[in-house]
Amino acid sequence: MFENYFFYKGKDLFCEDIPIKEIADKLRTPFYLYSKKAIQDKINQYKDAFKDYPTLICYAAKANSNLSLLKIFLDNGLGLDTVSGGEIFKGLLVGFPSNKIVYAGVGKTDEEIIYGIENGILSFNVESRQELDVIDYLAGKVGKKANVSIRVNPDVNPKTHPYISTGLKNSKFGIDIDDALDVYKKAVKKKNINVIGIHCHIGSQILDVSPYREAVEKVGDLVFKLKKEGIELEYFDIGGGLGIKYKPEDKTPNPKDLADLVLPVVKATGLKLILEPGRSLIGEAGALISQVIFTKSKKNKNFIILNSGMNDLMRPSIYNAYHHILSVEKKDEKIVADIVGPICETGDFFALDREIDKVERNDYLAVLSAGAYGSSMSSNYNVRPRAMEVLVDGDKYFVIKEREDYNYLIEKEIKPFERLKND
Ligand code: LLP
Repeated sequence: MFENYFFYKGKDLFCEDIPIKEIADKLRTPFYLYSKKAIQDKINQYKDAFKDYPTLICYAAKANSNLSLLKIFLDNGLGLDTVSGGEIFKGLLVGFPSNKIVYAGVGKTDEEIIYGIENGILSFNVESRQELDVIDYLAGKVGKKANVSIRVNPDVNPKTHPYISTGLKNSKFGIDIDDALDVYKKAVKKKNINVIGIHCHIGSQILDVSPYREAVEKVGDLVFKLKKEGIELEYFDIGGGLGIKYKPEDKTPNPKDLADLVLPVVKATGLKLILEPGRSLIGEAGALISQVIFTKSKKNKNFIILNSGMNDLMRPSIYNAYHHILSVEKKDEKIVADIVGPICETGDFFALDREIDKVERNDYLAVLSAGAYGSSMSSNYNVRPRAMEVLVDGDKYFVIKEREDYNYLIEKEIKPFERLKND
């Protein structure tokens, strides 16, 4: 798991060829630390698993949209899966060709739709009848056809956390599979729309891949129904969702398992495949490195208080997610403690009642599997500057996002004291 990229040599926790303590002493904490090799290995696994079939792997930018990390995916020939105008903007800025950008989301605004049309993105993954009408209308105004796929909701249970199950009947995502044929019939009649594909995404952090098979079979059946109606598509987008290791003992599927399961079904349709992996490309490659500010004990509890909090990594607070935590310098003694942040919320924790090395004030801890949905979900709650981001490549490291400072935090706010001065 983490062994290859985050591992102990003697008492020191390394990322690739660098002791993390060295980086932490130099840059100060907190920061997200990413292993370039881990990312590259994951990309290679995906490419290898799908090499015999025409496949576009679109990295899901929502997992982590740091420009330098996007550049790694771009340099490997990947496309980009986006969910907002902002993500499309970052993708284009880094240099992703617009014909490798797909865009899903239940609430695309007019501005975002126009932005996507003007830039000629590969596919709007349409999530409602109303959205289809609006895209057609706006494309007419822009004077350029929009490429669309319909996101169908196959009503499959991905057996993951309910907050990240997206393909169930009652979820807000997509169009009911039973309605989809009718929507396609309408879509192909629209003047300003090219119907190019079909899309589904059943959920995230999926550890048992069998629901994928169920989903692609259901969607594959629909593709054949469409063919019968004379509606020919080019792309079959099966979304993302492959799970990663959060606990050392977690058994995770790999891209090959996914390929073996879905390729026979997709091949039969003759459509090109699109994948949208996010977490599985970047999750295990990242760790959040923090420092112990204080330790304290109450009657029945020990606390380790860090200089990062739920504003930096929200997952434990909002999903009760487990993240493995290691001491950056191994200790001989262990302790059971709540590992918490400085935020004024009881839900501000990284781990509860966790057995961990007996760290002291100023020691560093590494929260693992934090590369996905870590920095991308971070906030400035409690007026806290967001963490730096650092990329390790062999025995070198590079700052890929500076730490925010106090002035940055107020940059966009109106300064009432200045206004008063000028009045
Ligand atoms: N495609 C679509 C349409 C999606 O909605 C998502 C994720 C992905 C692709 C990428 O899924 P992945 O391969 O990363 O599982 N914040 C949550 C995860 C939310 C996932 C949202 N959609 C978490 O921290 O677990």
